[in-house]
Amino acid sequence: MKIIWQNDLAVEPSLLSRLQAAADCAAVTEGIERPCAVCVRLCDDEAIHALNRDYRGVDRVTDVLSFPLAEYPAGVTAGHADGIIRELYDDDAEACMLGDLVICVPQLYRQAEEYGHSPAREAAYLTVHGLCHLFGYDHIDPNDQREMRTMEEKILSAVGLSRDDHSPVSDETLLALAREAMERSYSPYSHFPVGAALLCEDGRVFQGCNIENASYGLGMCAERTAVFKAVSEGEHAFTAVAIASKGTVAWPCGACRQVLNEFAPHLRVLVTWDGHVEESTLDALLPHSFGPEKLIHE
Ligand code: THU
Repeated sequence: MKIIWQNDLAVEPSLLSRLQAAADCAAVTEGIERPCAVCVRLCDDEAIHALNRDYRGVDRVTDVLSFPLAEYPAGVTAGHADGIIRELYDDDAEACMLGDLVICVPQLYRQAEEYGHSPAREAAYLTVHGLCHLFGYDHIDPNDQREMRTMEEKILSAVGLSRDDHSPVSDETLLALAREAMERSYSPYSHFPVGAALLCEDGRVFQGCNIENASYGLGMCAERTAVFKAVSEGEHAFTAVAIASKGTVAWPCGACRQVLNEFAPHLRVLVTWDGHVEESTLDALLPHSFGPEKLIHE
């Protein structure tokens, strides 16, 4: 999901990356098949207070406000409203503009403190809640509330932040996240876009795409992009990777197999292309591997 940022104040990068990951998982989990975009404004107490008063008649600070651009018929949400989503296409964003989210940063920090978790986690909760409103969910009626809550849980579980932790990321979600990452590939030289989605033991998913360079040899594969993103965020334990390509299958190249082997020699490897899915394991793809255990001396 493309985010058009409007940040009134400086915010920790980890918070922005969690927010982006939550938005990516939200669009995929909801089943929106077109590239979509959202405008996210991060603001202070005063700004959100004024918006809450002016647009909702509620004269106080709040954590998140959603301003959807579409009107969905009762009982229909974005994932089942392709006709409506298509109409939201915006030439500047090069995506379907779902609407605006406004998040109050000081309130986010207060709530993180109150619930005893990190501001990044709170940012993901608020994003998922706000995006569900942009997708057409509501929580006025108890039935609607249950549906919204179920979708929030599904998305949070795909970001590795499930509140109940009973809904692991499905292979379908992981494959969809790899296909989505492929859309962000930078491959003007090979014209071979690849996307990867790496599932961590704790349920978080890191996406990666291949990134090429005018100096050809400096290009980077999708799988290693995902691994490096994950490791640089403190994750070392991985259970599966999904890799998406077009026209032909993209099993990980030798270099990626070696890098994946460093952290997860028994990793499940799923590949998808043109509607096909196949599965293997890193043990099978990299027999007689050379890993860190070879260098551990008594
Ligand atoms: N590529 C990947 O990203 N992953 C693979 O598993 C195979 C190849 C990329 C590298 C390069 O940008 C393009 O595909 C063509 O080789």
